[in-house]
Amino acid sequence: PRVAILISGGGSNMLRLVEDMQAGGYATPVLVASNDPGAGGLAKAAALGVATAAVDHKLFGKDRAAFEAELLKPILSAEPDVLCLAGFMRVLTPEFVTRFAGRMLNIHPSLLPKYPGLHTHARALEADDAEAGCTVHEVTPVLDDGPILGQGRVPVLAGDTPETLAARVLTVEHRLYPAVLRRYVAGDRSPVLL
Ligand code: GRF
Repeated sequence: PRVAILISGGGSNMLRLVEDMQAGGYATPVLVASNDPGAGGLAKAAALGVATAAVDHKLFGKDRAAFEAELLKPILSAEPDVLCLAGFMRVLTPEFVTRFAGRMLNIHPSLLPKYPGLHTHARALEADDAEAGCTVHEVTPVLDDGPILGQGRVPVLAGDTPETLAARVLTVEHRLYPAVLRRYVAGDRSPVLL
């Protein structure tokens, strides 16, 4: 199966996915695309031999549909079977999501259904949660919703800041996403629990 990955920044999750596919041979990374031409992950993807594309969402103002129409061009020409959002920070319209229904994944840095949206680690600390973590789910038109395909948990430690917690969660994200993708392309929807 052909996998395209959407990023917005450094792309550390994308890197782990590409490296795992190249090592495991279970899928082919066919495109890494970003809403930010300056995303650091684009150079990392190119260094691994993966085609890249960037569409600057800032050129489209509030016109999400126009931005997505442009972003769709390199995605469709790559002919992906699966679309992975990895640190992708733009909300996609229901029309875009519906186009990839049943074959689009996202990783979110919380134990969904807790803390959809932003600032997840600060919210977990604010709530004095004992645990935090990350979730890989199928993308549906409702933000950070959709069937859960995997979760990874970490302890919240005394003295944690959003930054120290984010770093601990990120290391689990890097293990979780590849494990979920391997199962997903094999047609296995049983949740990966780390
Ligand atoms: C991180 O906050 C991660 O938790 C979330 O997206 C952000 C950037 O990730 N999934 P990445 O390094 O660009 O994959």
